[in-house]
Amino acid sequence: MERLKLVISQEEIAKRIKELARDISKDYQGRRVVFIGILKGAFIFLADLVRAVHLEQLEIDFVRLASYGYADATSGEVKITKDVEISLKDKDVLIVEDIIDTGITLDYYLKVLPRYEPRSVKVCCLIDKPERREVEISIDYRGFYVPKGFLVGYGLDFAEKYRHLPAIYEIERVS
Ligand code: HPA
Ligand code: MG
Repeated sequence: MERLKLVISQEEIAKRIKELARDISKDYQGRRVVFIGILKGAFIFLADLVRAVHLEQLEIDFVRLASYGYADATSGEVKITKDVEISLKDKDVLIVEDIIDTGITLDYYLKVLPRYEPRSVKVCCLIDKPERREVEISIDYRGFYVPKGFLVGYGLDFAEKYRHLPAIYEIERVS
């Protein structure tokens, strides 16, 4: 059995997204920006974020990264199972992540991105959860800092469940 404990409410998420959007809009004013959502988890955050920013030349794309190997293996292989479809050349790229946990998959993707010749690359995550971090990631826009725990809702899943929940919960196992 699993029990859900509220960690971040719908209202808190909405308020924080407005603040992030204000910073992002200011920093990218007049630029050609591509927001890249990391599937599947970022789909709700990206949808809310793009509707809160004010940028005229905004484009949106998605990638899906799959990591193989074991949770504790830094050597775990990462594959791009769905790549971007629009050109990133000379554009400012903002990676939009739901949660940065070990950092392994994002670190891999950040190393691949220069191949597309973007003008710049920054990272925006809804949740920074450092408990299991294995590689250092520089986060430019951070929604919330949650020290630990397994989180679900607002795009985050546990075995594909709970993504649709409008708030963020910690999942607790009860026997
Ligand atoms: N919840 C859901 N998915 C995740 C998490 C989490 O806390 N960390 C990494 N992927
Ligand atoms: Mg998942």
